[in-house]
Amino acid sequence: MEKILDIITAKMQQAFVDAGYEASFGRVTVSNRPDLCEYQCNGALAAAKQYKCAPIMIAKAVAEKLDANDYSMVEAVMPGFINLKLSDSFLRSYLEGMRTAADFGVSKVGEGKTIVVDYGGANVAKPLHIGHLRPAIIGEALKRLHSFMGYNTIGDVHLGDWGLQMGLIIAELHERQPDLPYFDENYTGPYPAESPFTLSELEEIYPTASSKKKDPEFAEKAHIATFELQQGRPGYRAIWDHIMGVSLPDLRRIYDKLDVHFEKWLGESDADPYIPAMVEDLKARGFAVQSEGAWVIPVAEETDKKEVPPMILIKSDGSAIYATTDLATMVQRMEDWKPEKMLYVTDKRQNLHFEQVFRAAKKSGIVSADTELAHVGHGTMNGKDGKPFKTRDGGTLRLEQLIADMTDFVRAKVVENKIVGENEVEDTTAKIALAALKYGDLSNQPTKDYNFDLERFAAFEGNTGPYILYTIVRIKSILAKYGAWEHLPIAVPANPFAKDLMLSLTKFGPSMESALNAAAPNLVCAYIYELAGAVNKFYHETRILGEENEELKAGYIALIGLAKRILETCIHILGFEAPEKM
Ligand code: ARG
Repeated sequence: MEKILDIITAKMQQAFVDAGYEASFGRVTVSNRPDLCEYQCNGALAAAKQYKCAPIMIAKAVAEKLDANDYSMVEAVMPGFINLKLSDSFLRSYLEGMRTAADFGVSKVGEGKTIVVDYGGANVAKPLHIGHLRPAIIGEALKRLHSFMGYNTIGDVHLGDWGLQMGLIIAELHERQPDLPYFDENYTGPYPAESPFTLSELEEIYPTASSKKKDPEFAEKAHIATFELQQGRPGYRAIWDHIMGVSLPDLRRIYDKLDVHFEKWLGESDADPYIPAMVEDLKARGFAVQSEGAWVIPVAEETDKKEVPPMILIKSDGSAIYATTDLATMVQRMEDWKPEKMLYVTDKRQNLHFEQVFRAAKKSGIVSADTELAHVGHGTMNGKDGKPFKTRDGGTLRLEQLIADMTDFVRAKVVENKIVGENEVEDTTAKIALAALKYGDLSNQPTKDYNFDLERFAAFEGNTGPYILYTIVRIKSILAKYGAWEHLPIAVPANPFAKDLMLSLTKFGPSMESALNAAAPNLVCAYIYELAGAVNKFYHETRILGEENEELKAGYIALIGLAKRILETCIHILGFEAPEKM
């Protein structure tokens, strides 16, 4: 469906032409004085300069040409504004169009296009910690938003499964159990099917090994193990398989709790086979050059205000690094999926890394010129006091613990207020807790830091996830009492609160489009906060079920039914769901 602003702009342009002026002056915007009007056009002011006459004259002449059926108010006011209010019939028929169209008539700007969303960023053998919350939920929301807007979306977790951390684990395991067959170079297999460590052992092995990095002898051992793993040493590959086998189910389990799902569980290791040919090609075509024993791709540009150092492709010891695997991953993605767009969600401290990789990819043609590369660098989630989030003993809080803390807090409320029967407590709690956690995060601009505040995020009032859920639950309960409502057509607004709600509903499509263009889930949050406000205002000012005139009542029900569907669509995009009761 066409956006309201586009429809009334086209009509305004025609009115300018009919009054003898150029069409281009007829741009209409949403009013910045909602107390005076809903939409406005300031074109007469600019036109006055060109036509050398008083702007109010032009505004009056144009206003007269507008079709009175479309507006309940058209006013030319000094010095030359045209103020508009939509007519009830215009609004009714527009909303009825939204109600009956697929996905409310949103124009599917992504149709026929593929996007890879690279998010989550988990590293195997390390438990997810609170730093993994933001890339997971922002990425999931952006993926769902793109999907809603028509894109074919591929979410890839891009596991950290290939670096030094693997070598560290292998070296540590060797020190602990040197007699394992994995370390015997003469062993011809097969290797044991059972892992030499459990998940909790692995979660202890890795940090222990990591803390020994400063010991030069141990570090050397770990580097060699990493190198040999990457060269394909069978025993080390077998250990690697065990690490993956133990670690992946746990990562999946926690992402599931967050309702975060990846289409692809590829990792840095999957990029490895693409590296040799890519490096040879980059050398042959002169994009990679030698520098102090390493191979690098210079990516500085003349217009740079800050120095952008070359991207390191191969270190002087012959090893590939993070940037190498990212570049090789692009080779794989272009070969397999030919995406129109690749979007990466990571901590903003990786800005430079992505700048270098993107430039290297574009300049070498690994990624075609018309493929869009974007990095959403997010800020940090801090504690309630604004300081880095730490456990009581100064450690990093596990993501699972954060989810558990929020869940416990919400459960206590659910139980205390006797919101649902005993066997629904867990389900209702999980839904509210997830909404609190996700909305608390997503309502902030991704690039900004924010403070995690459990009580505030979980509150049922204010700009929170639970408030949005509460609004949906309230509508659901009214609809349930009314009976079948899905077929009811939208009616003309019966009071100013109904009209405000209708105007809010018309902003759905434009809001989703702005959120998409800015890669900003916070704009979806801002939209539903406004919409929920309009719903609640309408609810408080209108007798809905108590209305005696059946036709009026049916109109009210149709209106809140549409609001419910749109709110539910938005929270699905944000990655959470509403319970039945609250
Ligand atoms: N594993 C990485 C980290 O912990 C994040 C991966 C992000 N994605 C990428 N393609 N580099 O920092």
